[in-house]
Amino acid sequence: MRAPNTPRITLKLATSMDGKIALANGQSKWITGPESREEVHRMRAAHEVIVTGIGTVLADNPEFTARPAAGCKKQPDLIVMGMKSKLQNQDRIFQDQTRNVIFSNDRNLVGAINGYHSVMIEAGSRIAAAAIKADIVDRIEWFRAPIIIGGGGIPVLADIGLDSLSDAPKFTRVAVTPRGADLQESYERIL
Ligand SMILES: NC(=O)c1ccc[n+]([C@@H]2O[C@H](COP(=O)([O-])OP(=O)(O)OC[C@H]3O[C@@H](n4cnc5c(N)ncnc54)[C@H](OP(=O)(O)O)[C@@H]3O)[C@@H](O)[C@H]2O)c1
Repeated sequence: MRAPNTPRITLKLATSMDGKIALANGQSKWITGPESREEVHRMRAAHEVIVTGIGTVLADNPEFTARPAAGCKKQPDLIVMGMKSKLQNQDRIFQDQTRNVIFSNDRNLVGAINGYHSVMIEAGSRIAAAAIKADIVDRIEWFRAPIIIGGGGIPVLADIGLDSLSDAPKFTRVAVTPRGADLQESYERIL
């Protein structure tokens, strides 16, 4: 049973049909289409904080803000798991100065999100896997584009160290929503 003050955590995934988030060379813009990306902006606007990993910031130099048109009155804070000193010219996360950008170096996802109530994880396969492995994900919003990347691509989740199917984290699908050519599948954790 989760503690009553545990924040609600949504993991957003955006993949090809075969569950890849990027090509082997790291290229990931844009796997999903504009309608999916619009919805992601609405989701950001509805959360207090976005959690990402330094791998994503280094690869994509993302901004991780919500557009005002998506209903955003206050930008969500941003937590980057990893060391700020690894940044080179990745400066877009600092452009919006109205929000907090926090770097967390201790690899402790749960500790990093203390004090927040609604958390959206938007990261690469290593942070996504760490969140699933720590069993802190309440909901998955999975945007799936009708393209195939194949085995050379980067999988949506890194290894979570399973030895038995009976230990696989289980979710139930609660909605399927077309987003242009893509599908958004919504899943809730089965406790
Ligand atoms: N399609 C999409 O929606 C989407 C979204 C985001 C990213 N991406 C793609 O994902 C790729 C990057 O993936 P990634 O796995 O390198 O990035 P990531 O998961 O965003 O970040 C991984 C890094 O986070 C740090 N970290 C801190 N705490 C950690 C913990 N508890 N567990 C694991 N790592 C922790 C590690 O840095 P240290 O090793 O330095 O400690 C690790 O290298 C890029 O190609 C990007 O384009 C795609």
